[in-house]
Amino acid sequence: MKIREFLSGRVRAAMTAAGLPEELPPMVAPSKGPQFGDYQANCAMGAAKRLKANPRELAAKIVDALELGGVAEKLEIAGPGFINIHLDPTWLGRQVEETVVAASGLLDPAPEKQTVVVDYSSPNLAKEMHVGHLRSTIIGDALARVLEAQEHDVIRQNHVGDWGTQFGMLITHLEDRREETDAAVALSDLEQFYRESKQRFDEEEGFADRARANVVKLQSGDPHCTALWQQFIDISVAHSEEIYQKLNVTLSHKDIKAESAYNEDLPGIVESLQQQDLAVEDLGAQAVFLDELADKKGNVTPIIVQKSGGGYLYATTDLAAVRHRCHDLHADRVLYFIDARQSLHMKQVFALSRRAGFATEHCSLEHHPFGTMMGEDGKPFKTRSGGTVKLSELLDEAVERAARLLQEKGSDLSADKQAEVARKIGIGAVKYADLAKTRTNDYIFSWEAMLSFEGNTAPYLQYAYTRIQSIFAKAGVDPTELAGDIRLEAEQEKALALKLLQFNETVDLVAAEAYPHLLCNYLYELASLYMKFYEACPILRSDVEPLQRESRLLLCQAVARTLAQGLDLLGIEVMERM
Ligand code: ARG
Repeated sequence: MKIREFLSGRVRAAMTAAGLPEELPPMVAPSKGPQFGDYQANCAMGAAKRLKANPRELAAKIVDALELGGVAEKLEIAGPGFINIHLDPTWLGRQVEETVVAASGLLDPAPEKQTVVVDYSSPNLAKEMHVGHLRSTIIGDALARVLEAQEHDVIRQNHVGDWGTQFGMLITHLEDRREETDAAVALSDLEQFYRESKQRFDEEEGFADRARANVVKLQSGDPHCTALWQQFIDISVAHSEEIYQKLNVTLSHKDIKAESAYNEDLPGIVESLQQQDLAVEDLGAQAVFLDELADKKGNVTPIIVQKSGGGYLYATTDLAAVRHRCHDLHADRVLYFIDARQSLHMKQVFALSRRAGFATEHCSLEHHPFGTMMGEDGKPFKTRSGGTVKLSELLDEAVERAARLLQEKGSDLSADKQAEVARKIGIGAVKYADLAKTRTNDYIFSWEAMLSFEGNTAPYLQYAYTRIQSIFAKAGVDPTELAGDIRLEAEQEKALALKLLQFNETVDLVAAEAYPHLLCNYLYELASLYMKFYEACPILRSDVEPLQRESRLLLCQAVARTLAQGLDLLGIEVMERM
């Protein structure tokens, strides 16, 4: 049930009945406070201006024609012509029962099914995944989950970097190391391996030349170099998959569409650009100058699509990827979750894809950038000694910290259970702390803040969920077998019901704008309203009548289901007890 959509339809019909032009919007929104009703329709003022009429009179006409019998208990006209809609608690209770408690799924499928490609995570395989990959991986995964839950066709694309000159250096080092040990051992620490290779490349006589020669061989399909490269890639991919599993991220190896997968398409991309007179020679390279990318002074930064030596670039591969996604995968939308520092690159790729026809006209290409994760000193997050923080170590630390916290709080769970709960809390905390921040801003990474059981954190929401489960346990009821009616009497009950019914609208917004923090805010508000309800409305106390007790248990169940599903959309797990 989407109340706003439903009311908008009714208000618009009333506007028609009152003779107002079709193009005027009903302007229905949740009210700013309970004194203004639950929803407001603010259409009368705009309409009055257009028609040079009195807004309060227009509002009265709309209210007269408004068919909300059984839905609203009261309609009022306030101020210059606001229409305040007070919803009927019986109707609200029934909506919660039908669409939150009894429905098999809480989310309505999208009215129009789309094919959506989500490009996320996409680490460079030359190195181990580090904190810089966290944001793309978890924000992208949340969006993939949201869109899938709305029954869109979601195609995950992990555009991993597995090509380019660095790999010449890496396979040359691997070639040497393999003489003493096997590849798995040599590559057990990718970071270390990368450092050694780089040092040899910079310092060792003859190494750089061998590395360069090996890149050329690799690019021309030499079997020996290809085998070395493949070994390296396989181990690096396995490492990423381990991280995805730890992180509860839905990516698997079948979602990998690596940069190298586009190798054969690159000459055709450049050729096509030349044929369309888009690419021109510039200092021996192939470059495209697009007027629409000019700065204020009229200067255009060229997009280089082929280097003077014949090599292709990051942008060339991305053009091939757009073409594949639009023409082979038939995407209606392509979402890119990449650092804000690549904004110009994406702008160039999108503009050129449109001009060259690599993008289909109807396809929406969207770069959803994000800011940087900062340390508590306000500088980009680093280890104490100033190195990059490995993602696997960060996640292990999160789980360890959560385990310690559980011990301090005196959890009475078995050791196994405690370990499982610690994992869910630790990983959930890291993910939620990131997802809850407005994506486009930088944010400060703080263990204390993210693991707190108070405030807008994963542990707070997980705790709210377990509290509800413990009520069911205490009452000795199976929440899926509750029967009866939801009767909203206290104001806290009504506020909670209203919030529950706004879940779908919130998820719609997240899907449209790719802002997971909107869902986090929603869940936090829901949990906070639940706590208020819990304090004001006794459930299991002996003086609570059976019908009221049943009704309140049903509300608890509606909240629990919404919290669990909302967190699941963010890739965060709940537990029965903690
Ligand atoms: N591998 C790139 C990096 O680490 C990110 C790739 C993002 N996706 C893309 N289609 N360009 O910076």
